[in-house]
Amino acid sequence: MPKDTPRADRAELLVTDGWEDYRLLDTGGGRKLERFGRVVLDRPEPQAIWQKSDPGQWKQADAAFEAKEDAEQGAWQYRKGRLGDWSMQVMDLDIRLRATSFRHVGIFPEQIEHWRWMEARIAADKRPLSVLNLFGYTGVASLICARAGAKVTHVDASKKAIAWTRENQAVSGLEDKPIRWICDDAVKFVQRELRRGNSYDAILLDPPRYGRGPNNEVWHLFEMLPGLVSDCTKLLSNKPSFMILTAYAVRLSFLTLHEVMRDHLAGHGGEIDSGELVVRDQAGGRRLSTSLYARWVPPGGGA
Ligand SMILES: C[S@@+](CC[C@H](N)C(=O)[O-])C[C@H]1O[C@@H](n2cnc3c(N)ncnc32)[C@H](O)[C@@H]1O
Repeated sequence: MPKDTPRADRAELLVTDGWEDYRLLDTGGGRKLERFGRVVLDRPEPQAIWQKSDPGQWKQADAAFEAKEDAEQGAWQYRKGRLGDWSMQVMDLDIRLRATSFRHVGIFPEQIEHWRWMEARIAADKRPLSVLNLFGYTGVASLICARAGAKVTHVDASKKAIAWTRENQAVSGLEDKPIRWICDDAVKFVQRELRRGNSYDAILLDPPRYGRGPNNEVWHLFEMLPGLVSDCTKLLSNKPSFMILTAYAVRLSFLTLHEVMRDHLAGHGGEIDSGELVVRDQAGGRRLSTSLYARWVPPGGGA
């Protein structure tokens, strides 16, 4: 094993019980029932192969998403009229939500465990960290980092997602914060930053399994993740603070993320913890696994 390979012996479940504006109300029968602000949604959940704990509750859903097995796209069935846009509070930010044809609504609530952790680290660091958020989606992580005092570079391939992030920035009153919004392919952007000699104190990556850059560049997690992680480690500053990788790809184990990070951070020392992001449902207390993660900090904790 190369010298200074990060220590890597902890596996964790980062479990959220939700918060005032988000609850996983119940799970079961291949579905999950969630409340986002004032709206209750019933969506497919392949992991929830157990029985619903409180079937009566499901009648309150404002809309249900129906899709053929394993299909990304599908259709919403509105039980009480169309939803339009609505908002919810996330760590005192106002976040705009809408029901998309990909079943998502603009937030992955289980990520709150990372958001709280990053906020605390950035505050503890007491210097303006530069943060790179790749595959940034609707920007909740970027806004939380910026509010905590970081300079943020947010990269996403979708103009629509960037426009949505700007809405979130405006309704949260964070327009004066130093955030660069960049519509680009994550892989190309990282390579360009390396050529320019730029660096970052913290890097977040939340890649989808498959994706497309703005010029149709192909992203394929299983084939391209190690290369991207390797390039990201080269982008770290000489006083790095953290790196977080999340994946929603069931074929992988969290150990795979762990080992990829460990390979490419050899020489940096420090520590990696990894495991699953989990949300606990209220009706039965069941723990629903949503994704895998690995999180690196430099020697001495870095803060
Ligand atoms: C946050 S990830 C999705 C992770 C998610 N939690 C899931 O279920 O897979 C999705 C974001 O990645 C962006 N994206 C996809 N391919 C990309 C690429 N090649 N470069 C940059 N962003 C990309 C999409 O536009 C989208 O906003």
